[in-house]
Amino acid sequence: MTPSQANATHPPDAAAAHPVFAAQVLEGLSARPKRIPSTWFYDHRGSELFEQITALDEYYLTRSETALLRSLHAEFSRLPAGAAVIEFGSGSSRKTPLLLDALRTPASYTAIDISGDFLRQSVRGLQLRYPRLDVHALEADFSAPLQWPPALAAAVQQQPRIGFFPGSTIGNFTPEQAVRFLHGAAAFLGHGAQLLVGVDGTQDKARLIPAYDDARGVTATFNRNLLLRINRELGADFNPQAFRHVARFDPAHSRVEMHLMSPAPQTVHLLGQRFRFDAAETLHTENSYKYPAAMFQRLAIAAGWTPQKHWLAADSDVALHLLQA
Ligand code: AVI
Repeated sequence: MTPSQANATHPPDAAAAHPVFAAQVLEGLSARPKRIPSTWFYDHRGSELFEQITALDEYYLTRSETALLRSLHAEFSRLPAGAAVIEFGSGSSRKTPLLLDALRTPASYTAIDISGDFLRQSVRGLQLRYPRLDVHALEADFSAPLQWPPALAAAVQQQPRIGFFPGSTIGNFTPEQAVRFLHGAAAFLGHGAQLLVGVDGTQDKARLIPAYDDARGVTATFNRNLLLRINRELGADFNPQAFRHVARFDPAHSRVEMHLMSPAPQTVHLLGQRFRFDAAETLHTENSYKYPAAMFQRLAIAAGWTPQKHWLAADSDVALHLLQA
């Protein structure tokens, strides 16, 4: 899209069509340093690009966690029989069968995701694969407090509940948001529930930087796609090629940061406002916190969970933590 095409959108219409996105982008571009929440990466193209990232040689997280889940079949078979499995941010539900196949006669599966289309598609696939399982889709933002739909609540509350949050997605929250999420998940799942969470604890910069700045530039395209989305949905005039993808590790915060850096001064127009970027100024687009096991356990305990067990991948510091409410 050229800047002039982008300007063809009428700003007030764009803001009305996407009010939360518009508000968060305006607020983030006005902040110092500039920032946009990483949740906005995942439009259709962003979700496709993320799927490509998970297959990259450098992006060890998905491969490692998948192998770890496979290796835990016997452990999962000892979890309560007849369980209700509840997955947070289920996305494509690609890892779900690794848990469902190991559990003894799971009774129901509830997928929670903000992306309704993706959710309905993956839930249909799972229902075909597990015809006897009671499968439900809950379209919701799981970073905010969740409510059970009344029709579902009664059945699920009779079953032992196992929450599932793989993919190290918890690392994309700040530690405060992670505690809030874990606290909310405990309330939603109820007393006695268990939660299986995937967490990356890698601290090795030599491994982290290529994972977030791969040789083929897929992650750079994923990062710049956010600007294309802002142009398309909010009528801005970002030139994505005028921003450089930057991934850096901040050991003090134990997090990988992704930024879009403007090598030269430039001005961007959005919803009737001008935003100036100085030379080398960055737009902070993502944090990916890396929690070694003891650090994650402290967060879980602060949120009211009791850590039961954790398992480490054979080839990385990716872990799966089993918590009890
Ligand atoms: C979804 N999430 C766990 C990914 C991560 O590793 O933080 C998102 C991602 N960003 C860049 N590459 C992958």
